[in-house]
Amino acid sequence: MKYSALCYVLFLVLFDVFLVESGADEGEKYGVYIVYMGAATANGSSKNEHAQLLSSVLKRRKNALVHSYEHGISGFTARLSAAEAQSIAKNPGVVSVFPDPVYQLHTTRSWDFLKYGTDVKIDLSPNSDSNLSSRGYDVIIGILDTGIWPESKSFSDKDMDPIPSSWKGTCVEARDFNSSNCNRKIIGARSYNGPDDDGLVNTPRDMNGHGTHVASTAAGIKVPGASYHGLASGTAKGGSLGSRIAVYRICTPNGCAGSSILAAFSDAIKDGVHILSLSLGSPASSISDFKNDPIAIGAFHAVENGITVVCSAGNDGPSEKTVSNGAPWILTVAATTIDRRFESNVAFDKNKVIKGEAINFANIGKSPVHPLIYAKSAKKAGADERDARNCYPDSMDGKKIKGKIVICDNDEDINSYYKMNEVRNLEGIGAVLVSDKTNGDASDFNEFPMTVIRSKDAVEILAYLNSTKNPVATILPTTVVSQYKPAPAIAYFSSRGPSSISRNILKPDIAAPGSNILAAWTASDGKVTDIPKFKIMSGTSMSCPHVSGMAAVLKSHYPSWSPSAIKSAIMTTASQINNMKAPITTELGATATAYDYGAGEMSTNGALQPGLVYETTATDYLNFLCYHGYNISTIKVISKDVPAGFACPKKSEANMISNINYPSIAVFNLTGKHSRNITRTLTNVAGDGTTTYSLTIEAPTGLTVTVHPTSLQFTKIGQRLSYHIIFTPTVSSIQKDMFGSITWTAKNFNVRTPFVASSR
Ligand SMILES: *[C@@H]1O[C@H](CO)[C@@H](O)[C@H](O)[C@H]1NC(C)=O
Ligand SMILES: *[C@@H]1O[C@H](CO)[C@@H](O)[C@H](O)[C@H]1NC(C)=O
Ligand SMILES: *[C@@H]1O[C@H](CO)[C@@H](O)[C@H](O)[C@H]1NC(C)=O
Ligand SMILES: *[C@@H]1O[C@H](CO)[C@@H](O)[C@H](O)[C@H]1NC(C)=O
Ligand SMILES: *[C@@H]1O[C@H](CO)[C@@H](O)[C@H](O)[C@H]1NC(C)=O
Ligand SMILES: *[C@@H]1O[C@H](CO)[C@@H](O)[C@H](O)[C@H]1NC(C)=O
Ligand SMILES: *[C@@H]1O[C@H](CO)[C@@H](O)[C@H](O)[C@H]1NC(C)=O
Repeated sequence: MKYSALCYVLFLVLFDVFLVESGADEGEKYGVYIVYMGAATANGSSKNEHAQLLSSVLKRRKNALVHSYEHGISGFTARLSAAEAQSIAKNPGVVSVFPDPVYQLHTTRSWDFLKYGTDVKIDLSPNSDSNLSSRGYDVIIGILDTGIWPESKSFSDKDMDPIPSSWKGTCVEARDFNSSNCNRKIIGARSYNGPDDDGLVNTPRDMNGHGTHVASTAAGIKVPGASYHGLASGTAKGGSLGSRIAVYRICTPNGCAGSSILAAFSDAIKDGVHILSLSLGSPASSISDFKNDPIAIGAFHAVENGITVVCSAGNDGPSEKTVSNGAPWILTVAATTIDRRFESNVAFDKNKVIKGEAINFANIGKSPVHPLIYAKSAKKAGADERDARNCYPDSMDGKKIKGKIVICDNDEDINSYYKMNEVRNLEGIGAVLVSDKTNGDASDFNEFPMTVIRSKDAVEILAYLNSTKNPVATILPTTVVSQYKPAPAIAYFSSRGPSSISRNILKPDIAAPGSNILAAWTASDGKVTDIPKFKIMSGTSMSCPHVSGMAAVLKSHYPSWSPSAIKSAIMTTASQINNMKAPITTELGATATAYDYGAGEMSTNGALQPGLVYETTATDYLNFLCYHGYNISTIKVISKDVPAGFACPKKSEANMISNINYPSIAVFNLTGKHSRNITRTLTNVAGDGTTTYSLTIEAPTGLTVTVHPTSLQFTKIGQRLSYHIIFTPTVSSIQKDMFGSITWTAKNFNVRTPFVASSR
């Protein structure tokens, strides 16, 4: 432990006094709290020590301990009263004590709707080169999620080498899961029930589908002939075909408990994974600071142990400041659309057709013969007109809906599945949702004839409704459009920057495909013997494992690369151009900014040859903690890697975070015409021999950007060179956030660094 035995004893004495004063009450309410005690010692922190600390507080109360974290991370989770939690927090070895948070999967469909969907679909990562399998170096990707459906063809271990000898994990025996479910592809499986999961089976078997989808996207093998009910047929495959999968089931129908997340991080560090992939996080409304966020804490220690941690940015877009998992040691992934669309068009009047986007497997005929009604006209007596228009539950008159196709608005944000259920319950025979938001992300309405149209097209159909007594329509079967343009575009749901944790770190970091992604799924009705299928899903949950797969490919090619080198390679080689050779746009057609996609859309080829990388060192992260307000005593508890003599810089303020050696630059509080001088250091990874990089600056109007020096000459591999970049507003007050980039270019290498400057 970091604190001395003496400290500990002193603390216990003081602590007893506190207890006496506060008077531990018999009838007190207990909550589940995480007690975070920083880095574990090299040999693992002692469970006894945790138990001792706990029992000193609890006195006679037993069985309060939920988890003890001993590897990488030190700490524990326990059932405590608020007073007990407060007491424990006073221990000098304790960094923070906070209520166990519940995080959510980052799919656009809630768990309910995941369960509701009875079937599945499809094929996958449009951007992975089949040749990018692991060579020479065996990479293990740990997936923290809902578990896995091991029978899926995506996880066959045919032709795979034996399990790497470095692997120290395990394959647990549990209900519907035993050691024969692990193989040379799925090399480990563990599961963790949360504190509120008492009655739920504790098994790595995926009863949801999400974890299976994510795992197969990251590292599933090629499965030819995959399709979703015949749609989008093709070969399903993961980003890193040769990588191994280690499963950590931390989510249940109750959500993903922070205490389970930390337990999984601790085990994964001990087990020897190289990449960790988390498609989950806290909602944008409750993003916590580093010391109260189990993902940020776990990721810090994982990265300290050489593990690259990739997390989804969240699905709370398109509002700004919604990005989650924004700690600087995390690779934070936004989502984009792909060039495949699912159309289910609406035919009406005699022969008019407008475009609709959806997946449904209904077939109510190609002729527009079904009566059509605007939900507003079906308003129930006493209901609110806006509710009715939006097909809110309990707002429409069943007599008017029965037997008709219903047009619903979408200007109040409730899940479209509630609308579907409402229309269906009232015996409507189909529904047309008017929405511009979900452009590029096909909702899957399964067997119900429902589709989504754009508001500009809705005008035409509403005018038709107005113009005739007996309007008719039909919803056409779903068809697949490939090579759709423009693509990629930012997915509407993708959470946006800036980060609410630190405006001086630009987040998200990168974007990858997250709309209409086809990957493995669980057997439909939970029967273990069913043949597993494939399913189309959307969310940053789906974009995250694309990047995890790419990180694994990089780790396989460059085993000695640090997590920050891997992150840098992925970021500096990203693309900002779509398949029309135009700038990537948002869902509404505006040019995307770094708040939407960070460095841009991940490029699978470029990342393997970055030329130069930004290495973010342990000292950088410690400085980040200093600038963020932590003192050296706390930092020494948090990190096991504090270099001898390290002290927080004398001058310490949030603005200095901009100087952390990060692959992007964010400068805030840029007021007046005062300059800000930022330093970055690049490391040559492209080989020996002289390579001279020249500079291109893309600066927004209102901002002068100068760089010194303007060329960088590298002569050997591993060489580091620094440059300064000076931002000077040319107007006395810059109003908006301004975006730009600088690019170092040599031979085939383009090392691009995006920046944002703001007066806010
Ligand atoms: C860790 O274990 C090794 C071998 O068992 C031992 O030599 C070393 O002293 C231990 N280190 C600590 C900090 O306990
Ligand atoms: C795949 O790798 C093999 C062997 O390294 C190479 O011969 C082949 O050209 C590669 N294929 C592609 C598509 O890159
Ligand atoms: C594991 O489960 C499989 C399938 O459910 C079963 O065939 C096998 O006998 C089980 N193995 C053990 C060791 O329990
Ligand atoms: C339909 O008619 C209503 C009332 O007559 C009018 O308010 C509305 O603007 C019309 N809608 C269209 C699309 O023409
Ligand atoms: C460091 O910060 C912690 C938590 O805010 C505080 O309890 C402690 O007294 C501080 N230590 C020093 C040396 O300032
Ligand atoms: C902004 O900068 C000024 C000095 O330029 C400083 O006094 C102020 O504290 C800074 N504000 C923030 C939020 O960092
Ligand atoms: C920027 O800062 C560096 C040191 O951090 C210094 O050497 C350089 O002269 C500064 N440049 C300007 C224009 O202030």
